[in-house]
Amino acid sequence: MENQKDLSQKVCSKESESLIEEVLSRLTLEEKVGMIHGDGFFRTKAVERLGIPSLVTSDGPMGVRMEFYNDKWIPLGKSDDYVTYIPSNSALAATWNPQLAYESGKVLGEEARGRGKDVILAPGINIKRDPLCGRNFEYMSEDPYLIETMVVPFIRGVQECDVAACVKHFAVNNQETDRLEVDTLVDERTLREIYLPAFRAAVQEGGAYSLMNAYNRFRGVFCSENRELLDDILRKEWGYDGVVISDWGSVHDTKGAAECSMDLEMSVTANFDEYYLADPLIKAVRAGEVEEVCVDEKVRNILRMMYRIKMLGGESVNRKAGCYDTPQHQQKMLETAGEAIVLLKNEENILPLTQERISLVPVKDAEGRTVSARRHRIAVIGHNGDHCHAGGGGSAEIKALYEVTPLLGLKKAIGGNVEIVYSQGYYVPGKKDVNEVNWQEASLERQIMGQENSDSEESRKLREEIACKRREFLEEACAVARNADTVIFVGGLNHDYDTEGRDRADMKLPYGQDELIEALCDINSDTIVVMVAGSPVEMPWRDRVKALVWSYYSGMESGSALADILLGRVNPSAKLPETFPASYADTVTCKNGEFGKEGCVEYKEGIFVGYRYYEKEGIRPAFAFGHGLSYTDFTLENLQVKAENAEEVIISLEVTNIGKCAGAEVVQCYVTDCECSVERPLKELKAYKKVFLQPGGRAAVQMTLPRRAFAFYDVAKRDFVTEPGEFVLHVGNSSDHCNLSVKIDLTTAASARS
Ligand code: BGC
Repeated sequence: MENQKDLSQKVCSKESESLIEEVLSRLTLEEKVGMIHGDGFFRTKAVERLGIPSLVTSDGPMGVRMEFYNDKWIPLGKSDDYVTYIPSNSALAATWNPQLAYESGKVLGEEARGRGKDVILAPGINIKRDPLCGRNFEYMSEDPYLIETMVVPFIRGVQECDVAACVKHFAVNNQETDRLEVDTLVDERTLREIYLPAFRAAVQEGGAYSLMNAYNRFRGVFCSENRELLDDILRKEWGYDGVVISDWGSVHDTKGAAECSMDLEMSVTANFDEYYLADPLIKAVRAGEVEEVCVDEKVRNILRMMYRIKMLGGESVNRKAGCYDTPQHQQKMLETAGEAIVLLKNEENILPLTQERISLVPVKDAEGRTVSARRHRIAVIGHNGDHCHAGGGGSAEIKALYEVTPLLGLKKAIGGNVEIVYSQGYYVPGKKDVNEVNWQEASLERQIMGQENSDSEESRKLREEIACKRREFLEEACAVARNADTVIFVGGLNHDYDTEGRDRADMKLPYGQDELIEALCDINSDTIVVMVAGSPVEMPWRDRVKALVWSYYSGMESGSALADILLGRVNPSAKLPETFPASYADTVTCKNGEFGKEGCVEYKEGIFVGYRYYEKEGIRPAFAFGHGLSYTDFTLENLQVKAENAEEVIISLEVTNIGKCAGAEVVQCYVTDCECSVERPLKELKAYKKVFLQPGGRAAVQMTLPRRAFAFYDVAKRDFVTEPGEFVLHVGNSSDHCNLSVKIDLTTAASARS
């Protein structure tokens, strides 16, 4: 297998493997079992007698989560668990910059070590199958290749810090509705081409030391005890010798979990000894119902991981100590956010707001003579303009050391010589029920519910109150806008919508924002719209606005980065890592009704996920996968095939920055199979490169497509196969804008394993 070499390099040395066996032989059954289940919400039992420390885990993807009591879902309220807030995975993916993925991983790894953690429960890499999935903000993309290329460096960055990444959630975990039970039915080809590649890359190329099984069922069997996923694919096919950690509370059966390749049971209840892999397992082993070798195998994997992250043995003196909340981390977050914010639209070059555009405004007398000057007035309108997001979303919540909101970012960047007026614009009702209980504690009992839409007198009154508030807020915002020279609306979603435990009900903007945006456009046709959200929304007014900026949850410096982009101090270079459909009705999952159902969800669309579907059906999305503008222009020319052999195809082209400012373009290469025995997508992303160029600068760009870039999964052969024949390589700066193409002929049939 192609990546076997990589894999063997990270396998422990013979020496530590024999140490593992020695340690194992000295452990009692009770001690071993203590190592394979939670003895706290985020830790396992230590074996002090043998110097084996407890394994300390922590969420999560956007920074190291706050400390909790060991046995209560109550934050400890410490003052030293504020951390660097890292851009969400959706933001990171929007950078299309694997180097930044590596550096973000490194920041997370250093912070995790700095906070004394051994395993960081990140990254989340499930496919964004439907725009409404509540956890999409934690995930990267609808495209497996983009995820692969970002997740591998991310994991390396984390693990270089002597902390284990925990890739989640394995597998086919793409909705929150009925997340603890739902059965996902996916055909084999789709599984192999869409849902597994990123996990395979994470394990084989990224060398992830741990991986988290998903809550859901896959083909009828819970992922925590799914032999097909864990034993056959993960262990046997991919050669994985790391640790599989259960998602919190995803284990359902002692024997089932004990006998399959899941190593560590974690949960959300405090009866630790009663966990399936605790006392019940000891009993089952003693009764001869489960063989002790099953326990040994799990402990072996855990010990191996402990050696790898230098928790054990002589190497532990060399273990990196990590650090958190450093100015370097903050600087890195600023840089990353600057590359994560997508410029979706910029008609008439409304942006950037150059110094000239926001300079003093002449004040005229009745005869039109300039008599004095006043400061330029910018109205920032919208709740997201001054809202902090880090503390929400479910297990991704963190206590950020700070979070620069868009309003603060602008104020910091502009200074007092420009007047900035803020108006909340739309009313966001306080959450009544969700925060009264800790959502995680309640997560096993029920779905986390939002405000009921019931017909009771009380909720009718509540709705009226909300409508009334909304009007008040809208009127105030319009008054502020009328008085301003520049209007910037900052809206979108927040973690009441982008959240674990619940999918969105629709793709609409909440809180009456559509009406507000229309009203602002009536007042000022140059209104700049900024959306802060973790997943797409319908933007029915998008043809009316000239400038539209998209920011995923982009970390603690997101407001500073946004200001830099609005003011032109940073040239936007992000690209959408997912399609933004014009309306939810356009999505394949809406059409086939196979999303957000309870009980069982069949992935009837097969491989046609995201742009693969829209292109096949000729549906124009609002914004295509890979789309993102810059303040400069680039030309892409001279596409050539440089080499073509049994192993790979190498293409080259020239990219020139023909505009007036420095910037970066993401050159994207999509593959089309001209003729194939099975139906294939019209185009599939198989290579990309981000190129930074000074004005007038030109670069030769080379991209290598390994043989498997042309392959599809042949169900009969149970392997990836490249059929001989013609392929077209489309190159451009977005999936819907590929103006270069070249045909190649792969005549030698070859089997390429992915
Ligand atoms: C989530 C995981 C998370 C775990 C621990 C679960 O509810 O699905 O992603 O890591 O909780 O907080």
